[in-house]
Amino acid sequence: MSAALRAQLFLFLISLSSRTGLSRYIEDNDASDGLYSLLSLAQKRESEDFIFRRPLRCLDMLAMDGHFTFVASRPQLACAAFVIAEPDEVIRLELSDVNIDCGAGDFIKMFDGWVLKGEKFPSIQDHPLPVHQRYTDYCSSAAPAVSSRSSQNVAMIFFSVHSPDSGFSITVRKLHNPFPCNIMSQSPEGSFTMVIPHQHRNCSFSIIYPVEIRLTELSLGQAKSNTISPKTEGWSGCSGSGDYVGLLGGNSLDTSKMFPVADLCFSISGLAQMKIGCDNSVVRLVSSGNYVNRVSFQYRLLENNELPKTQENSLDNNICTVE
Ligand SMILES: *[C@@H]1O[C@H](CO)[C@@H](O)[C@H](O)[C@H]1NC(C)=O
Repeated sequence: MSAALRAQLFLFLISLSSRTGLSRYIEDNDASDGLYSLLSLAQKRESEDFIFRRPLRCLDMLAMDGHFTFVASRPQLACAAFVIAEPDEVIRLELSDVNIDCGAGDFIKMFDGWVLKGEKFPSIQDHPLPVHQRYTDYCSSAAPAVSSRSSQNVAMIFFSVHSPDSGFSITVRKLHNPFPCNIMSQSPEGSFTMVIPHQHRNCSFSIIYPVEIRLTELSLGQAKSNTISPKTEGWSGCSGSGDYVGLLGGNSLDTSKMFPVADLCFSISGLAQMKIGCDNSVVRLVSSGNYVNRVSFQYRLLENNELPKTQENSLDNNICTVE
């Protein structure tokens, strides 16, 4: 799958989940219940006893709390559901009514993050857990593992079911996360403030669209000057500094495989902006733990005429443009 195709898949999945797919499947608990039809969708979601329900597809994107049921219509051996929440939320997944045959090769695995073509978000460098602990495998243990909680606003379910009519249900619940680190944006435009309070860790905010990013505020413990330094040869960048913001671009989901576009290691209060014409654009905050580091930024989708033109036929599709 080419990078451009992958981007289209994301766009498709995201538009599917946020527009057509979900609202159509709201369960009609009681057709004669006129009250429900008077409530807006938002009110329904708030009311405690309302639980959003719909079937789960073999390739799916879930962006809301709810109860999703998969029933195989034929052998469906390579299925995946991508789950995404708001930036300041983590995701709890809980399996129920599981009717699969682990002995026959069926499986259900939950993953703390997203994986696509072997690339992981958050990257193994940035995630607090080793990779094997990020998987929760229903079939692997004596007492089946039925729930998992993500470390960030994305999670995933892989499943493989051989016999028709077998399946399972999954309940998705979102929980508040006061210090989000590693975030996948649901939308190609928005704004965000990332804070790392005295922790030795790195956090990435990933936007899987080509975007213009404007840093509106950057505070790295000690203020020095107002500069944005584009990566140029011979410039050693901020690598000597334990606290900085890196802007990354690339056509990979894994931030460790993306290339640095610019580093900023000085606090700024003015605007610094860059256009990153890649499938994935990332703001990465590197933190030594000595300071409270904080970066605020806004982003918007690049227009067609701002995108690189030769990408499709380029020999190396890892190249994307930066201005
Ligand atoms: C954060 O990233 C920097 C630069 O990539 C790296 O040197 C450092 O080890 C990372 N820190 C942690 C806690 O992973």
